[in-house]
Amino acid sequence: MNLTIAANWKMYKTRQETKDFLDKMKAMESDFSSTQVIICPPFTSLSTAEESLRNSTLMLGAQNMLWEAEGAFTGEISPMMLKDNGVRYVIIGHSERRWVMGETNEQINKKLNAAFDYNLTPIFCIGEKEEMRKAGETEKVIMEQMDEGLKGIDAEKVKNLIIAYEPVWAIGTGLAASAEDAREAADCIQKKLQEFLGDNAKRVKILYGGSVKKDNIGDFVALPNIHGALVGGASLQVDGFSGLIKAAQKAVQG
Ligand code: PGA
Repeated sequence: MNLTIAANWKMYKTRQETKDFLDKMKAMESDFSSTQVIICPPFTSLSTAEESLRNSTLMLGAQNMLWEAEGAFTGEISPMMLKDNGVRYVIIGHSERRWVMGETNEQINKKLNAAFDYNLTPIFCIGEKEEMRKAGETEKVIMEQMDEGLKGIDAEKVKNLIIAYEPVWAIGTGLAASAEDAREAADCIQKKLQEFLGDNAKRVKILYGGSVKKDNIGDFVALPNIHGALVGGASLQVDGFSGLIKAAQKAVQG
């Protein structure tokens, strides 16, 4: 598969809405044959989604987890529980977790470690806030988030990672990064990956996220170091999301 497109539903959709969406998407899945489509519903819809996606090529992801298998952690969800719900991918370090819920690089490192231990593929989110970009610190912040997040993790594991570059100022604002900004960030991520992985760095997929829509997805997936997108708002309606996937495929295949 040359493209990866992940839907981050955030805190949207009941179980019924999840089922309705996935039934429609499944009916079209042969149109997405060159794309790895990953749907990340809220925890309460995971089991409904797992049932809907049996025998489907669409994959199931979660939006977060704790690093422990079980224990006295009120309100948290464990990697073991995600596996039990058929989850294969997990978003780690999303900017809303970092900047709204106060998640630290150290916690994100523990989560990444745990995801690998449980054979879940992490979609590791990194990206700068607006003031950091204005201060010319974008590259420094991205490098730090990667260094801290991946600290001590075996290279054999890191090569199975997916990274999502999501500038915080572009998330949910309708103001996507320019292709040039995304290219610069992706090149710098690729450079950092080479420190960890050498020749295997190219195996890691890099996604762009932040106000991705049907009309701009083509600009991002055309870039050499971008292999897809993490999509929030534009993944909530079947027509819009399926159109976005098709537009991405068209941009890549010509
Ligand atoms: P957005 O969200 O597409 O609504 O900007 C992206 C994300 O938060 O992953």
